[in-house]
Amino acid sequence: MMFSSATVQAIETRGLARAFDGVLAVDHIDLQVPQGCFFGFLGPNGAGKSTTIKMLTGLLRITEGQASILGHDVETDPLAAKRLIGVVPEDLALFDGLTAPEYLAFVGRMHGLERKVIAARSTELLELMDLVPAGKKLVADFSHGMKKKLALAAALIHGPQVLFLDEPFEGIDAVASRHIRGLLGHLTAKGVTIFLTSHILEIVEKLCTDVAVINHGRLVAQGPLAELGGDGPTDNLEDIFLNLVDAGDKAPRTLSWLQ
Ligand SMILES: Nc1ncnc2c1ncn2[C@@H]1O[C@H](COP(=O)(O)OP(=O)(O)OP(=O)(O)O)[C@@H](O)[C@H]1O
Ligand SMILES: [Mg+2]
Repeated sequence: MMFSSATVQAIETRGLARAFDGVLAVDHIDLQVPQGCFFGFLGPNGAGKSTTIKMLTGLLRITEGQASILGHDVETDPLAAKRLIGVVPEDLALFDGLTAPEYLAFVGRMHGLERKVIAARSTELLELMDLVPAGKKLVADFSHGMKKKLALAAALIHGPQVLFLDEPFEGIDAVASRHIRGLLGHLTAKGVTIFLTSHILEIVEKLCTDVAVINHGRLVAQGPLAELGGDGPTDNLEDIFLNLVDAGDKAPRTLSWLQ
């Protein structure tokens, strides 16, 4: 089913909700992410960010509402939606028994790419992610950051139109982070839409054009980054974020047995 809006959004949700044991983790959210947008999805721990990404990418069932990728409903037209997306999920879900080139070859084949194309892209991706020296190592023996970089490489191999990145910079070193930020900027310049969650607000400020903030499963703000604070007293993203999630003026916490 195609949504009928005049301009097709890269990502659109209507009343999207997910309950776990009767409790709403994502509470009827309406998101509009325009094509080519670098979208930051912010919220405190447990706010519902990963749950939203999992519903948008077919990793988790939707309880209520709808979601579409470039006009393709993720529930009624899942294959069309999945062909257009790349995803680095929270828990990566790699195969421990493969090497990085083997894993990329596997993912490439899943997407129906020819072996020659896979080999060429895989070489470029491994170079970009600095994973060439780990060519013969099994994923089981990778460091956390190496796994993350391989997951990102795998998410890119088929040339997705919409890229979902759940905490892509968590555990990534400064050199790789700079390379990856450069690459992501290049992708959005080419029209790819990026939907990113990150707790690193400096990175969000540098990269994202638009943001949404979710708190306790509810959207509390959405729009261009520059307009997020409205006419409020600050344009510092950290202050704006803390105010939006109602944590702005809390007294510092302490522990009773520490003085
Ligand atoms: N499989 C699950 N079963 C039960 N509850 C879950 C499950 N997955 C998530 N939840 C709950 O849903 C809520 C939202 O979790 P989610 O992982 O989406 O948060 P998040 O915004 O990604 O947080 P973080 O910043 O810590 O990654 C939390 O209360 C969490 O406990
Ligand atoms: Mg999460």
